[in-house]
Amino acid sequence: MKFFVDSADLEEIGELADTGLIDGVTTNPSLIAKSGRDFIDVIKEICTIIDGPVSAEVTALEAGDMLKEAEKLLGISKNVTIKVPLTWDGLKACKTLTDNGSMVNVTLCFNANQALLAAKAGATFISPFIGRLDDMGLDGMELIEEIRTIYDNYDFETQILAASIRNINHVKTCALIGADVATVPGSVIKQLAKHPLTDKGLEGFLKDWKTTGQSIL
Ligand code: G3P
Repeated sequence: MKFFVDSADLEEIGELADTGLIDGVTTNPSLIAKSGRDFIDVIKEICTIIDGPVSAEVTALEAGDMLKEAEKLLGISKNVTIKVPLTWDGLKACKTLTDNGSMVNVTLCFNANQALLAAKAGATFISPFIGRLDDMGLDGMELIEEIRTIYDNYDFETQILAASIRNINHVKTCALIGADVATVPGSVIKQLAKHPLTDKGLEGFLKDWKTTGQSIL
């Protein structure tokens, strides 16, 4: 499973990219607003750090206008992925963009039929929002399972990019189901490596090592 960072925070993205474990980045208008920075500058800078897909979201609502915005965003770097909302206009824009060879991430997906349409529109990525479904008392993971089944049934190449991930259990379950990508907030990515028994075990090993009086170097 590929890991994308769901962030527009350059420092956070840079720190995580240094691990070599990050395959891409997703942004959205809310994350750009949170960064307090210019959208184009932020995407440009992320693309200097990350070689993989970097999602930049259009804000127009009509397909023609989305395509004009997409043209500007695609000019930033070859790894820019155009993010469009899962609306009829978003799907129309998706079809045109992917027919022209651009990568498209169809976002704000909340049911399997929407995901089916995105695949038929040639989307590179579909972004089902797990956490926001959980927030409503629904089961976000059920949606990931349904999309996996549908895409496998018809050999759709659209990659399932699990989004709105809020905790490490979301990450594990996505991996078990077979999501292609998980876009994860930096704070959750850092928690993935943590276990109290790892810390405790390491402490014990180092204590015993000290008694040997040895050093490796
Ligand atoms: O990038 C979209 C997404 O991951 C949003 O997450 O936590 O705002 O629902 P959240």
